[in-house]
Amino acid sequence: MRTYHIVTFGCQMNKHDSEHIAGLLESELGLEPAEELRSADVIVFNTCAVREGAEERLRGQVATLKPLKVANPDLVIAVGGCVAQHAKERLFELLPHVDVVFGTHNIAELPDLIERAARSRGRVAAVPESCERDLESTPSIRESRWHAWLPIAVGCDNFCSYCIVPYTRGRERSRPIEEVVAEAERLVADGVVEITLLGQNVNSYGRDLYGEPRFAEVLRAVARTGVARLRFVTSHPKDLSDETLAAIAEEPAVCEYLHLPAQSGSTRILKAMNRGYTREQYLAAVERAYAAVPGLALSGDIIVGFPGENDEDFEDTLDLVRRCRYDQLFTFLYSPRPGTRAARMTSDVPREVAQGRFDRLVDLVQQMALEKNRAEVGNVVEVLVEGVSKRDAAMLTGRTRSNKLVHAPLPPGVEPAALEGSLVSVRVTEAHPWHLVGTVAGYQRL
Ligand code: 5AD
Ligand code: SF4
Repeated sequence: MRTYHIVTFGCQMNKHDSEHIAGLLESELGLEPAEELRSADVIVFNTCAVREGAEERLRGQVATLKPLKVANPDLVIAVGGCVAQHAKERLFELLPHVDVVFGTHNIAELPDLIERAARSRGRVAAVPESCERDLESTPSIRESRWHAWLPIAVGCDNFCSYCIVPYTRGRERSRPIEEVVAEAERLVADGVVEITLLGQNVNSYGRDLYGEPRFAEVLRAVARTGVARLRFVTSHPKDLSDETLAAIAEEPAVCEYLHLPAQSGSTRILKAMNRGYTREQYLAAVERAYAAVPGLALSGDIIVGFPGENDEDFEDTLDLVRRCRYDQLFTFLYSPRPGTRAARMTSDVPREVAQGRFDRLVDLVQQMALEKNRAEVGNVVEVLVEGVSKRDAAMLTGRTRSNKLVHAPLPPGVEPAALEGSLVSVRVTEAHPWHLVGTVAGYQRL
């Protein structure tokens, strides 16, 4: 039996796409998952171009495959995702062992491309700007039985000056509400407990289809399909509506969790980033969210070292981060992306200066996360059990509605498999910066 292995870099959209790649390879090429990468007949890299680091890791990993390719001339190596979409055929020069290059718009044609490459033992590339076959109607093999990604829109029209996504994923294309709801209903019937709606900017969902954003509506409609938990990423602060906040507060299935990237706390830098809001407007959106949704957990993204960022700008960022009381913050060092507007800006922040700022921000985030987690001690939280801890098979691990990682000892006499994918109540006993520890207080659902 011929086998495959998929290596996925980057965001949730890529994780979702890889589930379709697995579905296509199994149903259309009859492949089976390989025990390990080294034994696979088809290796697929689903790549990320958002920051340089992921590209370097890709180059490193593909380079190590040379001996496999020499030992097995029938091995097919395919590279897709955002790096492929951006580099197109040039990728064959950068990564000489690659047989297939496929873009973000034509994943559904991958089985055909692999067949052609295998037959001709030659290189095949397909990176058009639009799709022939709808990916969502192709089979998918979910990594998790109880969790599903559900794209509501793909692409982005915002053109933040540092970001490559509008170039690799194209303009925003929303899926009709009925189609999204029908898919959610299928997922629920299939035993899915938690759905994450995906879009580069979910708040503007529907603008291209209906002439106005209809995110709150699709959120409420999916929440009413019977799914136990509903999440969504990513919200753009400039488009966060009161209707959306009301839907989070009122729909029991929607988790009290909002990922609202600020990117910077300095209005001057936000302007250069083309984010479409000021520091004050962002802070006001956060206050609106906290006021509208009791128990809200907030997360965000910050880029450090954007061209022209001075000490004062960075102090503004630290101050904004403190004021926002984030539960979780993802911090990134600015990475110039060829082809974007920011890449042509010349006022680079020296590497050591950016690194120093980054380290200060990470310290603050750790302190803040610990503070927020300490406030949870003594509370009973709902945890969706993901399995047992990698380090200790006697510990269950899962996530709260606020997306916090929780470890709790497996109750005596209970098999982990019986709890995987179910919701349990956990009394929190210990707080750490990146996780909570507790004891199982009851099962809500088995
Ligand atoms: N450099 C650093 N971080 C970036 N991000 C996007 N583009 C870049 C870049 N060129 C970050 C943003 C975004 C997250 C997914 O990645 O914070 O919200
Ligand atoms: Fe990139 Fe900005 Fe679009 Fe997010 S909103 S994908 S950061 S261009």
